[in-house]
Amino acid sequence: MALLNDNYLKLKAGYLFPEISRRVKAFCDANPEAAQRLIRCGIGDVTEPLPLAAIAAMHRAVDEMAVRETFKGYGPEQGYEWLRAAIAKNDFRDHGCDIAAAEIFVSDGSKCDSGNILDIFGHKNKIAVSDPVYPVYVDTNVMAGHTGEANDAGTYARLVYLPCKPSNGFIPEPPKRHVDVVYLCSPNNPTGAAANRPQLEAWVKYALEHKAIILFDAAYEAYITDANLPHSIYEIPGARECAIEFRSCSKNSGFTGVRCAFTVVPKSLNAQTKDGTFQPLHPLWLRRMTTKFNGVSYITQRAAEALYSPEGRAQVQALIGHYLGNAKVLREGAKKAGLKVFGGVNAPYIWVKAPKGVTSWQAFDKILGEANVVITPGSGFGSKGEGYFRISAFNSRANAEEVARRLPELKW
Ligand code: MLT
Repeated sequence: MALLNDNYLKLKAGYLFPEISRRVKAFCDANPEAAQRLIRCGIGDVTEPLPLAAIAAMHRAVDEMAVRETFKGYGPEQGYEWLRAAIAKNDFRDHGCDIAAAEIFVSDGSKCDSGNILDIFGHKNKIAVSDPVYPVYVDTNVMAGHTGEANDAGTYARLVYLPCKPSNGFIPEPPKRHVDVVYLCSPNNPTGAAANRPQLEAWVKYALEHKAIILFDAAYEAYITDANLPHSIYEIPGARECAIEFRSCSKNSGFTGVRCAFTVVPKSLNAQTKDGTFQPLHPLWLRRMTTKFNGVSYITQRAAEALYSPEGRAQVQALIGHYLGNAKVLREGAKKAGLKVFGGVNAPYIWVKAPKGVTSWQAFDKILGEANVVITPGSGFGSKGEGYFRISAFNSRANAEEVARRLPELKW
C-alpha cells in the first residue's frame, strides 16, 4: 500500500488565500447585488499592465522563437547569463553589495523558492518565524516534517515564533535561545514594516554567532521609500556568510502572472554536515535546480532583462508609485474610519488594528458584508495577527479611493 506524507495532515485548514476566495465566492453567490460592487484588497495580486519595455522584449523574443536560427530550447537551469549579470550589477553591485552573477538563480517565483529551499537543509534544524508570518514559510516546514503538531491556536510545537507587535515596530528581534534557520521578510508581508540597518545588523550578528542561516525575503524591497532603509541583507557586512536572499519581479513589475524571480546563494555560505564539517550550500542549490527545474522561459527572462533598461526602470518606478499612492489613500481612509494603521509607507500592505473586541475574521465578515470589500484577516498570518487585518494596495486608484470612502461609513 502506498503511504502518504502524514505531515500534510498536520496543516491547519486550507492555505489562507484559497480559503478567503471560498468565503468570498459563497458571499457573492448569496448576494449577487453586493457582488457587483465588490472590491478585492485581499491577496496581494497586481492589477496594472506590464511595463511597456517588458512587453516589447517579449514580442521580440517570441519572434526569435519563430525562426530556426534564433529558436531556443532548454535554457540554463540557473538562468541566462545576461539576465543574471544584469541582476548582479543593478540590484547588488551598484548598491555596494558584493554579489556575482554566478550566485544568482533565476526562478519562477519567490514563493516557490522559499518553500523549495528546504530541500537543501537537514530535518533537525530549529526553525524560527515571525508571528504574524507569510504562511508559506510555516506550511512548507509542516510539509517537510519540521514542525510537529499544531495546537488549537495553530501554533506548531517545534517552531520558534518571534512576536511582531507595535512595541517592536512589528520587526522581530533575535531570540535569546538558539535557532538554526530564521525567516525574515522586509518590507514585511503582512505588516508592511521594514527593518532598519541596526535591526538587520543584530540579525546578522546573531546568525554568525549561532552559525545560523537567515532566509531573507526581499520580494517587496522596491517599495522602500525611506532612503536610510536597507534593500538587501547583503548591505550588512557578514551577510554573505549567513544569508540567502529571495527577490521577485512579481510585485514591482507586475509579473505575478508572468513568473520570474531569483534567489541569491553566496558561494561563501556554508552549513554543517552530520559529521560536523562545513560545506558550501551553493553547489547543493545548483544541484537541486538542475535536477528539479528546467529554467524560466526565454521569453520571460528577456522581459525581466528589459526591466533593467533605462525605460524599463522608469516604468517600474511608475508602477510602484501607483501602488504606493493607493497605499497612502487607503491609509488615510482607514485612519478616517478611526482605526489604528501601520505599514503602507515602505510596503504595499496596510496593517490595521480592528476595533477593540473585534476578531480578525469578524472584521473580515463585517467589511465584506457591509462595505463589500475583501481584506485579509490578520489571524490567518498567525496568532499575533489576531485582532488585525491587512489591506492590499494592489488595485486601481479608483478602487482604492472607493475603499477609502466606504471604510469610514462602517459602524462598528
Ligand atoms: C499575499 O497576498 O500575501 C501574496 O500575494 C501572496 C504571495 O505573493 O504569494
